[in-house]
Amino acid sequence: MTGDGCAAIEAGGLSKRFGDRLAVEGLTFKVGQGEVFGLLGPNGAGKTTTVRMLTTLLRPTAGWAKVGGVEVTPENGARIRGCISVLPETPGLYARLSVEENLRFFARLYGWRSRESTRRIGAVLDAVHLRDRRGELVGALSKGLRQRVALARALLPDARVLFLDEPTQGLDPAAAHDVRELIGGLRSRGVTILLTTHRLEEAERLCDRVAFLRSSLIAIGRPDELRRRLFTPSIDVELLAPVSEPGVLFGRVDGVTGWAGGGDRYQVTVTDPRRVAPLLADALVGAHAGIVHLAESEHSLEDVYLELVGEEKA
Ligand SMILES: Nc1ncnc2c1ncn2[C@@H]1O[C@H](COP(=O)(O)OP(=O)(O)OP(=O)(O)O)[C@@H](O)[C@H]1O
Ligand SMILES: [Mg+2]
Repeated sequence: MTGDGCAAIEAGGLSKRFGDRLAVEGLTFKVGQGEVFGLLGPNGAGKTTTVRMLTTLLRPTAGWAKVGGVEVTPENGARIRGCISVLPETPGLYARLSVEENLRFFARLYGWRSRESTRRIGAVLDAVHLRDRRGELVGALSKGLRQRVALARALLPDARVLFLDEPTQGLDPAAAHDVRELIGGLRSRGVTILLTTHRLEEAERLCDRVAFLRSSLIAIGRPDELRRRLFTPSIDVELLAPVSEPGVLFGRVDGVTGWAGGGDRYQVTVTDPRRVAPLLADALVGAHAGIVHLAESEHSLEDVYLELVGEEKA
């Protein structure tokens, strides 16, 4: 999905002011059905505020939003809450109830029959690997385990649109991996997911598209699209030993537009890495340079993030 077509989530000029602070300013975007969409940005960027507005928990001060084609207004609150599920930033669980009692409490709110509740609770406990600890008080669980209970709660209703505010915060690497697998599974079942995260490699792996937020939208697109937009294509070269006159050597290769570096390491900017890499390799071999490494430079989503928001002050 690209966000075109029938949108699951849509916002136009969505804004939220707290006193004289404009926490969210004029957000306009669409999330297509079945798309995994990542909202990224530094602390205080307005990610949670946006999630709260989209999920009826906070009223915007300006602009509008639709979820599942329904306008997010106080009158439509119940209807919208009926087709979405939210993992909030703070779990909001009952510390004095056990894991299973918490889930039963929330299951009751959906009005399911007891057998249906038991089946769903069993399924979500398995999904977050908490079946063994279902009898323990939530207040006595570690932060990461509580986060898993909160996730289980968000998964209970089998919603078509899921909002996950930092789903892997506090989770150990294995548990975070499991959650990513879980999100991958939901995506393959066509569930639309809007998530926020500070783990950029996670966003890169999970999200069809990401939006960089700093009160207002800085950039939006597929991770590879943003990379292309921000960085000139280049090839990293590492040699066994420095070459004499690298500029002359690189300058002779068709498609090379510039170079940086020195000694045995260079970054050569090119028009099209896949076309130019073999030509560059030929030229280096022709000059008897021992090639240790020659490959298209890779820019991670972290590079994109740092380029877009890294330099600005909070
Ligand atoms: N209820 C509130 N009252 C006043 N200011 C608020 C309120 N909620 C959020 N803010 C402010 O709005 C801004 C955006 O906060 P928000 O929680 O949306 O950021 P975030 O992007 O989720 O950050 P983080 O990555 O730290 O979770 C911040 O400056 C925050 O202090
Ligand atoms: Mg937040």
